[in-house]
Formats: sequence, C-alpha cells, structure tokens
Amino acid sequence: MDNFSYQSPTRYVFGRAAEEQTGKLAAAMGCHKALIVSGGGSARRSGLLGRIEESLRAAGIATLELTGIRPNPTDDRVYEGISLCRAEGVDGIIAVGGGSVIDTAKAIAGGVPYDGDFWDFWAGKAVMEKALPVGVVLTIPAAGSEGSGNSVITKLDGMHKISLRTDYALRPKFAVMNPELTFTLPPEQTAAGIADMMAHIMERYFSPTQEVEVTDRVAEGVLRTIVEEAPKVMARPDDYEARANIMWCGTLAHNGICGCGRREDWASHGLEHVLSALYGVTHGAGLAVVFPAWMTLASETKPAKVAQFGRRVFGIEEEDDSKAAIAAVAALRSFFGSLGLPLTLGELGIKDPDFAAMTAMFHRDKGNPFGAYISLTPKETEAVYRLMV
Ligand code: NZQ
Ligand code: ZN
Repeated sequence: MDNFSYQSPTRYVFGRAAEEQTGKLAAAMGCHKALIVSGGGSARRSGLLGRIEESLRAAGIATLELTGIRPNPTDDRVYEGISLCRAEGVDGIIAVGGGSVIDTAKAIAGGVPYDGDFWDFWAGKAVMEKALPVGVVLTIPAAGSEGSGNSVITKLDGMHKISLRTDYALRPKFAVMNPELTFTLPPEQTAAGIADMMAHIMERYFSPTQEVEVTDRVAEGVLRTIVEEAPKVMARPDDYEARANIMWCGTLAHNGICGCGRREDWASHGLEHVLSALYGVTHGAGLAVVFPAWMTLASETKPAKVAQFGRRVFGIEEEDDSKAAIAAVAALRSFFGSLGLPLTLGELGIKDPDFAAMTAMFHRDKGNPFGAYISLTPKETEAVYRLMV
C-alpha cells in the first residue's frame, strides 16, 4: 500500500426532503449572498429551484442566478459567473444539478478570489489554494462532483476538456442528496450516470500498486451494489430504495475512498473527454464505449486484475486468468448493453471517427505516455480507439 493523505470534508445530508435544509447549510458555510447555478431547465420545471430559493431566503441569504449551464460545460459561462460574483459581492455558490452545473460552480468559486485568468489552474500554471464555499443540491448520481475536489471544464478555444483535481479547495462544503429528486431522470441519463460511477471506481481499481486489499474490497462492494441496483432503477424509476443506493454509490465511487493507498489509472476518462470535446457525447455514455475497449487491451497485457474484477464483481468462475479476463470484458459490455447504453462509436453517433485526431488530442491534453496501470503511447491509444468500432 502506498502512503496517502485523505480528507473528505463534505457534509452529506441525505434522504427525503433533504433540500429543505439548504438555507441552513448555506448560512453555516458563512454565506450571505449566494449565486445559484443551474442547468437547462429540469430543476426549474420540477419546482426544485423555487424551493431552494425559498429556503435560502428564509435563512436570510440574498440570491442571484446563473442558469442554462449545458452538459460538458464551457469556460465562457465560468467567466460570466466570475464577473457576476465580483460585481455583486457574492460570498457563496449553490449548485443545483449534476456534474456540469457543479463543475461550473466550482470553477467560478476558484476564479473569484484569484487575481488572474481562472484557466491558469486548469492549464497547470497556478495551484488553487482558496475558493468561495460551494454547496450542492444533487439531481443526478453520475459525476460524483458533489464529493470530489475536481472540476471538468472545456476551454472553447482549442476544445481542451480538462479535469482540475484539487485535494481540498474545490470539495463542496455540503451536498444535499434526496433520491426522490432523481425520479425524473430520463433513462439514458440514469444509465450514463451508472456507467460513469462504475468508471470512477474502475479507474482506481486498475492500479499498479499491489496489496491494497481493503481498498479493492471497498471498490468491489460498491461495484457489486451498482450491478444489483441498476436494473431496479431502470425498471422502476421511482423505486426509492434502489435510487438511494445508486445515489450513494455515485458519491462513494468518486470521493476518493476507492483510491486510498494506490496509484490510479484515469486513461479511460482522458480517452472519453476527447469524445465529449470533439463530438459532444454524454460523458457516461462515452465511457460505456471506452472502458470495455481499454479493458480489452488490459486483458491482453495484464490479465490478472481484470480476471479478479470479473470473478469478484460479476461472479465469473473461470480459473485461467486470461480466459477470465476476456469473460470479464464480455460481462461488462453485456451489463452496459442491458442498460441500453451504446457499445460502439457508431452507436454513440460518431459515424466517421478521426482516429488520428482523437489520438493527438488525447496526448496533447494528457501527455505522453499516459496511464498508471497501462502506459498508453500514441500506438496503444489509437489501437484502443480502433477497438471501439
Ligand atoms: O440541464 P438540465 O435541464 O438540468 O438537464 C440535465 C442534463 O441535460 C439532466 N438532469 C439532471 N438532473 C435531472 C435531469 N433531468 C431530469 N431530472 C433530473 N433530476 O441531465 C443531463 C446531464 O446533466 P449533467 O450535469 O451534464 O450530468 P452529469 O452529472 O453526468 O455531469 C457530466 C459532467 O461532469 C463531468 C463530465 O465530464 C461532464 O462534463 N465530470 C465531472 C467530474 C468531477 N467534477 O469530479 C468527474 C467525472 O468523471 C466527469 O468527468
Ligand atoms: Zn466520469
């Protein structure tokens, strides 16, 4: 096991009617004037946004709004939010939505106190040490941003989709999580969220660090829960208990607990961010195509851990590692397929993939080579992309 330092300071307020506590929680983080960040309209239509505004007002907090944040969020809305916060003296940000909204809120929070271009942090030119406090009202279990220190933003100039990872600065102060708020999700978003949370665990599970049995077992437990609960939420979107399990799995998948004590891979996320940047695909749907392809390469070159994954998560009984690894990839693909997720670039809507451009963009943004479990050079990267057809 590697040495590690792990701090997860977010207060999770989970369950029915949890959103009623938003005002009290925002006041406790020292907020007097809040910017409420939200998406394309689902939170307004459901009445949630109105209830959050009311809860904040009741706690004596003035509010402003930045709305219409789209999936795969872009830097232009971050600049807009930073200007608004500075002009109005905002001292806290409330994100009402999923990863795209939360990541925009986090980027604004980091940009406001910084005397320079917020993108400096994403470009690796500066280290973020402070940010306005961020609170989250989560409406989709997927990105895990409610518990992570990360924010993924696309810079429109050059289409760089980059994940900034902070240890502490961008971890939300609180996350309100009511599973009932997820009943309205369209099935394709529920499924994409499930693929994304599984990917967050697998990025950490496929590690070159040996003998981290406790973290392996935590990861396998969360993965097995997702595999068991996912068919229930797909069949009955208003199954509270199944939605609750999936929602908490999404947080545990990405708040760091599944990575303690070991190096993490993260190549599949990099491969997917290229697809989102170039073709605008839904992040989790892209991962359903990317991860089995990456795992095929892993099963050819380092089958033992893939075999362990297959045996412990999908109950594969094959004793030979190479054969068990191939069966594990098939089981993962079949599981994604059963949720209605795309399995090829064509099914993702990418009819004429430009493999050279995809490979070049991956190494431009991630470096060369990249990946801790399998070190991808352009040759392997292009080979993995070609496995996705
Ligand atoms: O915009 P609205 O109208 O709200 O609709 C959204 C959006 O179209 C809809 N939705 C959300 N909650 C809903 C709902 N529709 C009905 N009922 C509800 N309760 O779902 C759609 C997707 O929303 P989005 O926020 O994009 O989803 P997700 O949480 O999957 O976030 C994806 C983004 O997060 C990044 C991804 O790259 C992508 O940009 N990630 C962020 C991470 C992090 N910060 O730690 C880690 C992840 O690996 C990921 O990369
Ligand atoms: Zn992800």
